[in-house]
This record gives sequence, C-alpha cells and structure tokens, in this order.
Amino acid sequence: SSMCKKCFRFEYFNAVLINEVGEDEKPVELGGEFLLEPNDHFNNLSVNLSLSVVQVPTNMYNKDPDIMNGVYWSEALNKVFVENFERDPTLIWQYFGSAKGFFRQYPGEIKWNPDQSISFDCRNRKWYIQAATSPKDVVILVDVSGSMKGLRLTIARQTVSSILDTLGDNDFFNIIAYNQEIHYVEPCLNGTLVRADTTNKDHFREHLDKLFAKGIGLLGEALTEAFTILNDFNQTGRGSVCSQAIMLVTDGATEMYDDVFEKYNWPDRKVRIFPYLIGRESAFADNMKWMACANKGYFSQISTLADVQENVMRYLHVMSRPKVIDHEHDTVWTEAYADSALRGKSGPALTTTVAMPVFSTKNETNQGILLGVAGTDIPLQELMKLIPKHMLGIHGYAFAITNNGYILTHPDLRPLVTEFLCVFTASVLQHSFTLPSLFLWFCAHHQNYP
Ligand SMILES: *[C@@H]1O[C@H](CO)[C@@H](O)[C@H](O)[C@H]1NC(C)=O
Ligand SMILES: *[C@@H]1O[C@H](CO)[C@@H](O)[C@H](O)[C@H]1NC(C)=O
Ligand SMILES: *[C@@H]1O[C@H](CO)[C@@H](O)[C@H](O)[C@H]1NC(C)=O
Ligand SMILES: *[C@@H]1O[C@H](CO)[C@@H](O)[C@H](O)[C@H]1NC(C)=O
Ligand SMILES: *[C@@H]1O[C@H](CO)[C@@H](O)[C@H](O)[C@H]1NC(C)=O
Repeated sequence: SSMCKKCFRFEYFNAVLINEVGEDEKPVELGGEFLLEPNDHFNNLSVNLSLSVVQVPTNMYNKDPDIMNGVYWSEALNKVFVENFERDPTLIWQYFGSAKGFFRQYPGEIKWNPDQSISFDCRNRKWYIQAATSPKDVVILVDVSGSMKGLRLTIARQTVSSILDTLGDNDFFNIIAYNQEIHYVEPCLNGTLVRADTTNKDHFREHLDKLFAKGIGLLGEALTEAFTILNDFNQTGRGSVCSQAIMLVTDGATEMYDDVFEKYNWPDRKVRIFPYLIGRESAFADNMKWMACANKGYFSQISTLADVQENVMRYLHVMSRPKVIDHEHDTVWTEAYADSALRGKSGPALTTTVAMPVFSTKNETNQGILLGVAGTDIPLQELMKLIPKHMLGIHGYAFAITNNGYILTHPDLRPLVTEFLCVFTASVLQHSFTLPSLFLWFCAHHQNYP
C-alpha cells in the first residue's frame, strides 16, 4: 500500500510503526498490518514467527537511501531466521545490527515504543562493538584551551562521552585534557590506562563535568604523553596487546607535529590517530586531516551536538579494518545481563549475547566492508542445561567465569536488578584456557549458534 513498497517491491516493517493507523484509518507508511500472536516461548509477548521488524535510531531518517537499501537486501534474513528457529527451537531473539544504523530483529514483535527507540542504536551495544572491533587501548586527548569555551566544550564533553560508549570490558583507556600543560582528567590515574568497564567509565564521566577552558593549546606535549603511555603499556604486555589509538578532540591544531609522529609512530604507524574537529570553522582542518592520514586514522568534523554520535561512530569502521582484511569471524560472548522480556516467575532471566561480524564479500574494494553484526540472545539457563550433571558428583556444581574475571553463572548467583538493568557485568567467554574443561566443553557447543 505504501509508496516504498510499490517501487522497491519489498516489505519494510518499521518496529515503531507496525499496526499504526493514520487519521484516515489506513495503515501509516512503513507501518502496514502485521499479524501478531502471543507466544509462550517468548514469554507470552506477541510475535510474528515468519517476519522480522526493522528499527531505525530516531535521529536518522527512516527512508534514508542507505537505510532503504539495507532493509531491502537484509530482507533475505527472514528465511534464515525462520530456518534457524526451526532447527533449534531453544533459540530466542535473532538479529542483525547494520553498520548503517538499522536493526533487524526476529521474530517481529511490538515491544518497540518510540521512547525506547530513541535511545537504542544497535551500534552502541556491547555485542556490536565487541564483535566489530578488536580489543584496543585508547588515549583521549581533549583540548581545554581558551578557544574551547562555551558550546565547543559542551560538544567536546559529549564527544568524549560518546567515545567512552564505544569502549567495553576488553578495552583500556585514559583521558588527558591539555592547554599549555597536560592534566589527567583523573589525576590519581596519571600515566596509566584503565579497563573500560562501566564503573571506570562512569567515574571518568563525572570528572569530565569539571573541565573548564582557559589558556593556549599546545598539543605536542599531550601527544608525547599519549604515545609514551601506549608504548609503555604495549611493551609491558598490559592493556589489550592489540590495536592502539589516540582520539584528539579539539577546535584546531596550528601545527602538524610531524616531529612527534616521526619520533614515536613512524614508519610502522601502529597507533592510529582519530582527530575530531569541534565547531564550524575549518581553518585548521588541513593539519588535522593530515594527522589522520599520516597515522592510519580518520578525520571528522563535529559542528553541533546532534552530529556527535554519528561522527564518533565512524572510527569503528577503521578499527575493524584489520578484522576485515584477516577475514576474522570471531564469535564474541557478552556479559550476562537481565533480560526483562524473559522475566519468569523468579524475576528477570540472565542472558548472554553471542555475536559475529558480517563482511561484504564483494570485490568492490580489496579490503571488504563491515556490513554489521549478527547476534542472538542465549538465556544462561539454556547453557546450564548442557552441563552433564552425572559427571559432577553429589557435591559438585558448575559455574562459569569470563576472561575478565566476572561470574557468568553460578548456582548462588542472584541478579541485583536496578530500575533498568542488572548490575552484573561479565564478558567474553572464549579465552578460557584456565577454566575447567567442563566449561570449555559447553562453550564449544555453543560456538555453533549463529
Ligand atoms: C506475520 O505477519 C504477516 C503480515 O501481517 C502475515 O501475513 C503472516 O501470516 C504473519 N505470520 C504469522 C506466523 O503470524
Ligand atoms: C503464557 O500464558 C499461558 C496461558 O495464558 C500460561 O499458562 C503460561 O504460563 C504463560 N507463560 C509465561 C511464560 O508466562
Ligand atoms: C604524574 O605523576 C608524577 C609522579 O607522581 C608527577 O611527577 C607528574 O607531574 C604527574 N603528571 C601529571 C600530568 O599530573
Ligand atoms: C605491541 O607489542 C607487540 C610485541 O612487541 C608488537 O607486535 C605490536 O605490534 C605492538 N603493538 C602496537 C600497537 O604497538
Ligand atoms: C574476488 O577477487 C578474487 C581474486 O581477485 C577472486 O578469486 C574472487 O572470485 C572474486 N570474487 C567475486 C565474488 O567476484
């Protein structure tokens, strides 16, 4: 019935619009009639087991050509989702988060309301970031010289906060503010990097509010400090021992600082540099673009608060390039979290997500392109069912911890649920050589999921 269906001949069920009718009592565009039935397996939520729905972040246009094109080609996933579910009826939600921002979920349901949808961008989710990028060490340099006063500092804070959103339990970071001197945002953590877990990120966010702008910006010393920490961390085998990056948040750089790069980063260019130019002026954009090119990074300009998230996210494409080139298809397992949609009699059920990056196999560029991440949720009780109880003995029980030391499951684990989310955090299961073989056994069995 809608215009888009006529010209593209595909179905685009927008998660917040399905079954909506306009003033003329006809379905709204991108809505359409979508039959739903309560389903026991999905905790009696109303779902449609033959179709998936598409969610688009509210700050993006539903009918952006990139989104339309993505919704079109990803329609083929419906068949795959249905087949997966037929093959393994213990599966719950299956989904694909696109690098362009849309999110396709099977089975289609009416869980989405516009309020939820506002805050949901699949590319910010841990499963997406962990699957799309390798673990990384990141130093964020933020300019607090006098010219940053006012709106620019507000945008800079938001930019740093959005960068923090893209870091997870396998990443390490620190934040250095600079004018004519360098100031660690958290002075107690001078000269080191810390794990990007929720507690540390929240702690640093509080300190961001205390930044104020004055003086002149001298980037050279800040860059030197950043390279020194990153080198030191890698040399001593701490940190992620994988990719490293410097994020530079400033309203301009008057020099190219090639002497610093020459000393610390060339010719290997192992540390990537991502400059974010804050504000509308582009007088110094050339220097910053040059820095990005000379250090295998990516330049972005952020003029308004509304531009922040989309621009910050672009660096993930560059950071995922090594994965694309190596055709790494690692599955990642996220921390355990409480899924309220699975709320049973004994409270919310703990769930983990297993996810895998998806790359284009077209020969359009020789590097391939990250298309997005596919994932599925797995209730921990399903994992527990795989434990061979007879092997445990009378007093035996099984538990699982992650490579980051968080408990994933344990007979005495009781989720503490705050208003929105479970406070338990745990992370990737895979690198578990030190764990009991039993645990490895059920990890191995669940690698086959997606
Ligand atoms: C899913 O919705 C479509 C469109 O409304 C409908 O044709 C189909 O019968 C529904 N499938 C199920 C299994 O309910
Ligand atoms: C779903 O609804 C049926 C009947 O209304 C009920 O027997 C069943 O316990 C419900 N299942 C869940 C998981 O709430
Ligand atoms: C970091 O700590 C060292 C030793 O405590 C001190 O000498 C140095 O000035 C500190 N640097 C910054 C930028 O705070
Ligand atoms: C970190 O050190 C290892 C071993 O010395 C080296 O192979 C790797 O390239 C270094 N990584 C970076 C980002 O410097
Ligand atoms: C892409 O290029 C490689 C080598 O150039 C070739 O072997 C492969 O068949 C090509 N793939 C497609 C899908 O065209």
